[in-house]
This record gives sequence, structure tokens and C-alpha cells, in this order.
Amino acid sequence: MAEQSRILVVDDEAVIRELMGDILTEEGYSVESVSNGLAALDLLRQTDDFELLFTDIMMPEMDGIRLIHEARKLKPTLIPIVMTGFATIETARAAVKEGAYDYVLKPFSLSEIKLAVSNALERHHLVNENARLREITELFTFSEQVVRYREERTLLDFVLKAALDRVGAQRGSIMLMNRDGRALEVATSVGLPEEAEHDCVSIGNGIAGWVAQHGAPLLVENIDKDPEIAGRSRHLADASFISVPLERKVAANGWRHPVPSPNGPEVLAVLNVSSKENGRQFNEGDLKTLNVLANHASIAIENVRLIRDIETSHLSTLTSMALLIEAKDPYTHGHSQRVRDLAVLTARRLGLPQPEIDLLNLGAGLHDIGKIGVNDGILNKCDCLSDQEWDTVRLHPLIGYDVLEPVNFLTKGHLDLVRHHHERVDGSGYPDGIEGDQIPEIVRIITVADAFDAMSSSRAYRQGMPMDDIVQELKRCSGAQFDARIVNLFVEMIQEGKVQLAG
Ligand SMILES: [Fe+2]
Repeated sequence: MAEQSRILVVDDEAVIRELMGDILTEEGYSVESVSNGLAALDLLRQTDDFELLFTDIMMPEMDGIRLIHEARKLKPTLIPIVMTGFATIETARAAVKEGAYDYVLKPFSLSEIKLAVSNALERHHLVNENARLREITELFTFSEQVVRYREERTLLDFVLKAALDRVGAQRGSIMLMNRDGRALEVATSVGLPEEAEHDCVSIGNGIAGWVAQHGAPLLVENIDKDPEIAGRSRHLADASFISVPLERKVAANGWRHPVPSPNGPEVLAVLNVSSKENGRQFNEGDLKTLNVLANHASIAIENVRLIRDIETSHLSTLTSMALLIEAKDPYTHGHSQRVRDLAVLTARRLGLPQPEIDLLNLGAGLHDIGKIGVNDGILNKCDCLSDQEWDTVRLHPLIGYDVLEPVNFLTKGHLDLVRHHHERVDGSGYPDGIEGDQIPEIVRIITVADAFDAMSSSRAYRQGMPMDDIVQELKRCSGAQFDARIVNLFVEMIQEGKVQLAG
């Protein structure tokens, strides 16, 4: 153990440096000596493996207390010990308060130095052990959190932030592989110049392109010492950086790859970090940390994509069901899609936020899905319905709600669209008789769009109504059946020629 420990000695007196070097080398330690604080900090920036720092206090340029302060910023686990004469014992005590682990008084004996070093190394190993445990705990927390994300963009933001925090980097990005597998594009970034925020590189080009092509991580401690890498990099703003591939863990058919693909690993993305805090260089430990993060992140990205694919396919099935219902009646053919388009147009005109528009896009086409539970003979009946038949038709919002309620990716917003699209703002609608603002705004939009399409479509027993009559009817029912503000806006769109008759 002792021969592996590296000790840095800082003293402006050559005789002390020589003496300490002799004592510690004799004890089997690896010793480096420098004559001032600035040279010591340079050494600490270049190498990460010093465990102990012996420093004089009174030195020109930078005193020992300031050196300890700066050195611990660079390497928090470094154990400092001050060396001082009797005249400055108070200063030595002050240094201990500042973070020095111990002090030895000049002139010191061999046994004092040996004791101070063995105590300090024991402490160093304990500190390191604690740091390792903390790292394992943090990685475990990351692995638990990362799989909870359901949306790819927020997942990538989380992964990048965690990666930057874990290795103390100030800049970074995650570049996603394009669909055709030929280029990487920045999907999220921190600290990049504006022109690089949407950067795109071909596979094989630049640092990230090389990492993706080879499926291998790249740690560059100092690019000035690596001309081959320097030639590959397009942006040399940072001398030290790490790029790590996020590799596919699951084959396209859903099975985990039993062996590496003969065509090389399939890379989903590349994680890049640079600009380590305090101007330090990245090291092997940082690379290992990022490799672990990248493994967990790859699984999480694939999960999000698999779930999205399942949702898309589930939604296609539901949409097909809605189309099938309409296909049975040529007069309602295309109704759901037209209602969806009109509702989205109206919502955009109202300036609703994108999540509401997305909700309409997905949910509006399903509003009449409950008609699947209503007898075809009643739905397609040409003449007037009896009271009993009307009661059956009025069940369709509740049937639709029951059909969609178990679909776990549909939200309350989607279910509201289906359940409440026949409510009226005066509370006389069905099935719940809610009124005014109790009916969500996007549902009030659907109600107007639904009524417009019903009036403008031809039926077996009547022709579609002309536009003027529809406008008159919408205005007549404004404030009772329909939200007056939405009717006003809808009529404006009709007058501007933005809404056409269904025909
Ligand atoms: Fe309906």
C-alpha cells in the first residue's frame, strides 16, 4: 500500500525538500517536491493521484494556507499537512481550521513524520472509501430515477444534467442518431455556443461521429498532447473532454442482443462532456462514471421508445375502431377526422398551448367511439327516433369513456373529450349535466365543431344545411348549448372562408 501512495512536498527551502524526500522515499512513498504553491497547483492539475500534501506555511508568492485552499478545490480528497517552526504555531492551528489535517513542527524527527503520514493516509483511505460509497449510492439513485421518464426530451435533459454533475463538467450535449443512422444531431445541450446548439455531424466525422462509428468511448485528458484527436475535432474550445456512446441494448424485435451485432454496436446517441470545473482534466474515473450512466440511459431511452411504439399502435387500433363505426354509415364517413381538424383549427385560433392542441389531435378523433356500443339499426335510422332510442344514443359518451378508461396512456383530458362532448354550457346536456367552466375549454370546442359537422353533412333523410343556416343556428344556441366566445370565433373563421361545409 505504502509504495502506491504519492506525496507532494512544497517548501521554499531546498534543504527541507531534500530531507522530506529522503525520509518519505526511504519509507517507500513516491515523492514529488516543488518550491512554491503555483508549481504545486500545476502538478495537481496534471495528475490526480497525490494523496498527501506537505506544505510549508511561510512561502513567497503563495502561502501554505492559500495553497491548501486552492489544492482542495482541485482535489477535495487530498490530505494537507503543514510544516512550520515554533514561531508560527498559531498560524499552523489556523491552517488546521482551514482544512489542514495535521501539522508538524520544524525541526521534525523521523518518527514524527512517519506518524503524521500513516495517520493521514489512514484518513485518506477512509475519505476515499466514503467517496466511493457516495458515488455508488448516487449511481443507484440515477438508475432508479432514469427509468421513470416517459418522454424522451425530458429524459435526455435529466441524463445530461446528471452526467455534468457527476463529473463536474460545465458543458455538454447529447447527440441523437438520425433515423437513417448516418448522422448525429444535438438533442439537448448545456453551455454550448448558440451556433452549436443544433449541430449535426455525419457518422465518422468529428469526435462524436468517431465515437458513434466505433461504438467506443473517448477520454481526452489534454488535446494538445494528442494531435490525431486534435485533427478530428472541429471545436477545440476545451483541452479535456469525454465522449461516450449510448448503445442499443435491445434488438429491433424486442429481444436483448445475446452477442454483439456483427455490424458493430448500434449507437442510439453520444454523450459529450467538457470544461471540467477549476480547469482540471477529466480522468479514467470520470470515464467509468459516464460509461455506467450511459448504460442506464440507453435502457431508459429504449424503454421510452418501446412504450411510445406500443402507444402509437394502440392508438391506431382505437382510431381504426372509430373509422369502422363511421364506415357502417356512408353519411357519417370522415366525421371524426373532420371534427378533429375543425377543433384543432379553433384551438389554434384561440391561442391554446401546444399540449392542449396535442390532446385534441389525439383525442378528438375518438369522441364518438362509444357508438360502437349502440345498435346499428338505431344509429342508421332514417326517421325520427323514439324516446327509448334516444336514451340508447345518449349512452355513447359513457360507453366511449368505459372503453378508453383502461387505456393507461390516455389522460383525464382525453377521457373528458369523450365523456362530455354532449354537455351544454347551460347544464342541460348529457351525461353529467355539467355547465359553463365545469366543461373543459377543449371539450366546449369539440361540441361546436361536432355540431357544425353534423349540420353540414348530408344524411339519408336530409341534405346538409347551407352555411348561412348553420351560422344562424350556432348563434341561436350560443350561450345555451355552445360557449358564446367559441361560437363568435368559429363564425369569424366561417366568414373568413377558413371553414368549409362537409358536403
Ligand atoms: Fe357524439
